[in-house]
Parts: sequence; structure tokens; C-alpha cells
Amino acid sequence: MKFYLAPMEGITGYVYRNAYYKYFGHMDCYFTPFIGNKRMAAREQHDVDPKRNLARPLVPQILTNRAEDFLLLAGQLLRLGYDEVNLNLGCPSGTVAARGRGAGFLGYPKELDAFLCEIFDKCPLKISIKTRIGVNAPGEWPGLLEIYKKYPISELIIHPRLQRDFYKNSPNWEAYGQAVRELSLPLCYNGDIASIQDFQGLMDAFPHTECVMLGRGILRSPWLAGRIKESMGMTENKGVDRDALLGFHEELLSGYQREMEGERNVLFRLKELWSYMGDGFAGAEKLLKKIKKSSRLPEYRAAAEEIIRSCQIRDMDTADAINLEK
Ligand SMILES: Cc1cc2nc3c(=O)[nH]c(=O)nc-3n(C[C@H](O)[C@H](O)[C@H](O)COP(=O)(O)O)c2cc1C
Repeated sequence: MKFYLAPMEGITGYVYRNAYYKYFGHMDCYFTPFIGNKRMAAREQHDVDPKRNLARPLVPQILTNRAEDFLLLAGQLLRLGYDEVNLNLGCPSGTVAARGRGAGFLGYPKELDAFLCEIFDKCPLKISIKTRIGVNAPGEWPGLLEIYKKYPISELIIHPRLQRDFYKNSPNWEAYGQAVRELSLPLCYNGDIASIQDFQGLMDAFPHTECVMLGRGILRSPWLAGRIKESMGMTENKGVDRDALLGFHEELLSGYQREMEGERNVLFRLKELWSYMGDGFAGAEKLLKKIKKSSRLPEYRAAAEEIIRSCQIRDMDTADAINLEK
């Protein structure tokens, strides 16, 4: 069983990936958030810079509907030493989809087919794809599967929601099952696996699953992949290590301070992360409010560290506070 860390724009940049790798390191592969412009901005260049990235293997992700731009970026990434790129056909954002990119590209099957034909013909790197199952209706999925069957996709990561679902409704396991039955290429499941129980449900439904990508579940509980591996007997039971969490947090804080200009930007980034990570702790409401209101790093740090040191870890399946420590 392999686990991948999902790309999450604005959050899982190299600072987060490095900190996660150093203190948890449970992933078999990491993905950059999407690169959306053929000329990479400084932030994107840093994000793919091999010298800055400890968490490997790393696959850069490209969001475009222009084969020319895809090939140009792939060429730059090849020169940096990458051997695989990932195509984003899943971003549901209104502005992205309206321009026929991300999940919006799924609404133009003919153009998508022509685009894939060109990039698979000319790209010197392996190409994996991260896809949703359509734009408006599950009925679009069978046609998309017929397109995917035609190309040597190195891996198809499926988040079985429609573009118009954004993150609402439940992942469509029937559609995922159809891909499992019909495709002979390597598949990776992604979507709403935030607890051991969720993972077990997936394994019960699809016992041959070999690869799962985890996103918000890891933001909320960075220990999640470790707990799943323990539940499968893949690693010994280590529980949740608060010192590792403190180290992880410190690494994020210092990493963002190095990477970003100004306290406000650093705080903004960390507050966004706590909007997920806060749910991993029980009884943290007051301290989370303090984090939200903090305008300086010392007050932020005090509240964040107090949560990590003293609030109980929340059981993701029951939402109860439990003792996960050894
Ligand atoms: C804040 C945020 C940013 C995201 N950015 C990206 C991205 O850059 N590229 C991508 O393919 N998916 C992106 N996603 C989608 C995730 O990779 C993943 O497919 C989605 O969250 C479902 O998985 P999960 O339920 O495990 O979180 C993003 C999701 C979130 C919540």
C-alpha cells in the first residue's frame, strides 16, 4: 500500500512538505500544488527547486489546457531533474474551470483528447493525471474513461467528485469502481479519507486498492497516515508524539519566516493551516480563537504551542478526545 500527500495550493508548498517529511515522513510520494503559468513565478520556482526539497519523490503538477505550455514547463522540469509531471484535471475553482482548465477541461472531451494526444506524443517525462469524474453529471465519466484508455498515463489519481460538487456531497464510489473495473493503468484513490475507519471502508469496498492520496485528513491530523499504517500492521504502534508535533510546528514557523516577507504573511499562512489542524484537537476552541485574533508571532506561538502541548488529540472516527499517546 502506498500513500501520497495531496497537492494543496497555498498550504502544501515545500515548507510544509519538508516539515511533514522530517517529523512524520509517511508518504511514498509528494506533489507540488499546481503550476498555472508557463513562466513560473518565484514562489513556484522555489517550490520545484531540488535544493529546497527534502520530501521526495516529488512530482510537480501542471494546470493548463495548452499543450505548448505544458511541454514548455515539462522541459524546464526535466532540466531540473524531474522524471514525472502530473496534469491537473481536478481543480474545481470557478475561475479556473471557466477558462476550461482543471476540472473545467473535462467539459471539452474532444479538446482534451487532442491535448493528451499531443503531450503524450512529445513529452519526454512520465505523465500522471489527477482527475475528477466530470463537470456536471456522472454520465460524463464513461466518455472520459474511453479517452484515458488511449494513453500511457503513468498513474491516474481519481478524486471521484464532479467539478460542480467542489467539496460537497460524497465521493462517487460507483464511478471509482467503474475505473477500477475498466482501466488497466495504475490507479490511486483520493477523497475524504480522514480516519482509520474511512480507510477501512475504502479497503472493504475496493480490496485491491494499492495507492491512496491523503489531503485534508493530513492537514487536520498530520499523524493520520502513521495511524493507518499502524492499524494495518505496516509499522509498530508509536501513538502520537507531541514533541514531533511541536518540532513540526516550529519547522513550519521558521520555514515560513525564511520564505515570506513580513509577519502578517507568515501569520496568514499559519492561521489557514490551523483552520484544518484545529479540528485534530479537542477542547481547543479558546486557544484557536486566540490564534485567529493574534497579530504578532509571539502571541500566536504561545497559543499554538499550548494547543499542541495540552489539548487532547481527537479521535477522527468518533470525534471524542482520546489518549493516543504511548
Ligand atoms: C486548500 C486546497 C488546495 C488544493 N489545491 C490543489 C492543487 O493545487 N492541485 C490539486 O490537484 N488539488 C488540489 N486540491 C485538492 C486536493 O489535492 C484533494 O484532491 C482534495 O482535497 C480531496 O482529497 P481529501 O479529501 O483527502 O482532502 C486542493 C484542496 C484544498 C482543500
